[in-house]
Amino acid sequence: MITPYLWRSMLYVPANRPSRLQKCARYGADALILDLEDSVPDSEKAESRLLLKQALKEPIWDSAELYGSNGGSERVDLFVRINAMRTRYWREDLEAVIPEEIFGLKVPKVEEPTKVEELDHAISRIEKASGIEEGRTKLLLSIETAKGLLQLSAICAASARVIGVGFGSEDFMTDTGIDRDNLRYARMQMTLVVKAFGLYAQDSVYPAFSDLEGLKQETEEAKRMGMDGKTAIHPNQIETIHSVFQPSDALLEKAGEICRMAEAENGRVFNYHGEMVDRPIVERYRRLLQRSREN
Ligand code: COA
Ligand code: MG
Repeated sequence: MITPYLWRSMLYVPANRPSRLQKCARYGADALILDLEDSVPDSEKAESRLLLKQALKEPIWDSAELYGSNGGSERVDLFVRINAMRTRYWREDLEAVIPEEIFGLKVPKVEEPTKVEELDHAISRIEKASGIEEGRTKLLLSIETAKGLLQLSAICAASARVIGVGFGSEDFMTDTGIDRDNLRYARMQMTLVVKAFGLYAQDSVYPAFSDLEGLKQETEEAKRMGMDGKTAIHPNQIETIHSVFQPSDALLEKAGEICRMAEAENGRVFNYHGEMVDRPIVERYRRLLQRSREN
């Protein structure tokens, strides 16, 4: 199974910074995560929620509005990171943002499938009350603890709204004592489960935002693990993330050639310059081409 969602980058933007909210759609990220959680102090939760609700009504999310393009308007996909369900904030977060035009919620520190069910029902109630099509609000869940990782299969199955799962490295390191160089096993385990459900797999932020070489290496690793995208905390990280997830021209050319040859061979296994090519290999190259067209 494969996810239809192809966001390479998602930029986190703290919701307590109105000037950043105003400008953030311009940086070219494939989607945005407007954050009410860890980047907002408790003393600013309520005010940030209001600021965000207001900003969501403005025309600042529309690329035509920003660039004056005549190719029609395109609203960037918006996620709101609500506060964790163990806090007293998350219900008010939902009330504020579900009625607005968002793609979905990023849900931090998910550990229990029953909590995801509870969240699903709470969203349904608000969708109904606001006259929104039920099920419109999608969920991108964050796994940030060992407990959450161990329950991930049940968590993925807990709601039809779940379209993806992201890895939260900073909290995971805090929770487990594992250092950054040893997160591969957990990231790989997460990706395997996510792929089994045909969902979108997202890698965590790379906090050292001036170290683009380190970011590139970690993004390449995520891509090799089968992840579909990575979050960013600073606009200068977006280009690096895109360049890693964007296949090279040479690879695209090879993919095109293989797909053309496969059509001519009509399902037979064939020899491509000394490489055996059969059905799953053709399928991989076909996906690569499809993905690069959609990006
Ligand atoms: N979203 C939108 N704009 C951002 C941004 C972000 N995450 N990070 C930086 N910018 C903008 C700044 O507004 C500034 O724009 P300007 O030149 O038009 O004024 C420009 O990019 C350069 O910013 P810079 O001065 O390099 O960054 P900083 O020192 O002010 O801020 C951080 C650094 C890390 C605090 C900031 O990038 C940030 O808040 N990132 C997101 C943190 C977050 O959401 N964490 C939770 C998820 S783990
Ligand atoms: Mg966190």
